[in-house]
Amino acid sequence: MSRNTRTLTVDREHPDPAAIAEAAEVLRAGGLVAFPTETVYGLGANALDEQAVERIFAAKGRPAHDPLIVHVRDARAVDQVAAGVPERARVLMQRLWPGPLTLVLHKASIVPAAVTSGGDTVAVRCPASPVAQAVIRAAGCPLAAPSANRFAHVSPTTARHVLDDLDGRIDLVLDAGPCPIGVESTVLDLTTTVPTLLRPGGVPVEALSELLGTIERVDRTQLPSAPAAQPHRSPGLLERHYAPSVPLHLYVGPHAAQRLAADLTRRLDSGQQIGLLATDRALSEILNQVGGRDDGRICTASLGDEADLTEAARRLYAALREIEARQPDLMFAVAPGGTGLAPAVADRLHRAAERVVTT
Ligand code: TXA
Ligand code: MG
Repeated sequence: MSRNTRTLTVDREHPDPAAIAEAAEVLRAGGLVAFPTETVYGLGANALDEQAVERIFAAKGRPAHDPLIVHVRDARAVDQVAAGVPERARVLMQRLWPGPLTLVLHKASIVPAAVTSGGDTVAVRCPASPVAQAVIRAAGCPLAAPSANRFAHVSPTTARHVLDDLDGRIDLVLDAGPCPIGVESTVLDLTTTVPTLLRPGGVPVEALSELLGTIERVDRTQLPSAPAAQPHRSPGLLERHYAPSVPLHLYVGPHAAQRLAADLTRRLDSGQQIGLLATDRALSEILNQVGGRDDGRICTASLGDEADLTEAARRLYAALREIEARQPDLMFAVAPGGTGLAPAVADRLHRAAERVVTT
């Protein structure tokens, strides 16, 4: 499947119609186009073309049992791909679409089995990004689009990230610069009696409970390391994901920075090179504690100001890739706590981690 991947640079607010038309043409012909959304870059194909959808799985190396999200232009387009859409879905779509919210609904028969991994539900999202909107509208069909990375690797928030993973495996990348949110959409299952949060993401869960009341959570960060014991609510959510090629040890809890600094000191004393990922405050606390032992063997990437976790979300994937590129022996990270986007950032770090240290 080696082919020539072209890149077209477009303005994020007012994408060049000629570039959009070219992307639409590739999609209508059954090809693969990576395009920016407000969350991460997606790898799009015509959701109603089974062969095109299968090309997504092949390009990513994604197992067939991990279903894809279908991207639609607006709330009216949902009824093409979903059946018996409940009133509570309409409420959410009206209030939170377009935006980083994916709803799991009963699927319509027109959606090929490859999209839903043979299941009878379909995940639907209406992205807010003007580029994504323009691509969907020009293609004239719903687009199946997972994140545009190799399966289980760190998600892409720039066109460079997409090419690092998929160059030569896809037809086209639309480059509109870094994604403004930086973590994937919130996935909410509305086929259950009580709505179930399957993945924390760009829409905070508080915004959902405000509109729907009680939300059940499948909180991955609280699960022991035996996910197979959990019901398969969302197959893709049960696997190790977002993982850099450098092993990541994640520190969680009130004494995370102190405990990390103690472990880091030992690692440095034994001659290792360590990558460090945390908010500015945690970074300076850790580096203070480590004192003069560093001598260039620590490479840091900042998640920004602790008080603004939208910044941490925006930086997260680029920071993981940045440290990965330096190839230290090990990466240490501190999981942020709190509400808003904190659960999404913590969830991704948990799923990237080889080891979680709770303090
Ligand atoms: O922000 C996003 O959602 C990005 C952008 C490109 O839109 N897309 C994205 O897709 O994150 P992906 O494939 O990387 O993640 C989709 C997640 C997977 O974990 C998958 O298992 C779950 O949604 N999913 C898809 N269809 C589902 C379904 N019918 N039932 C339950 N979970 C589903
Ligand atoms: Mg993904």
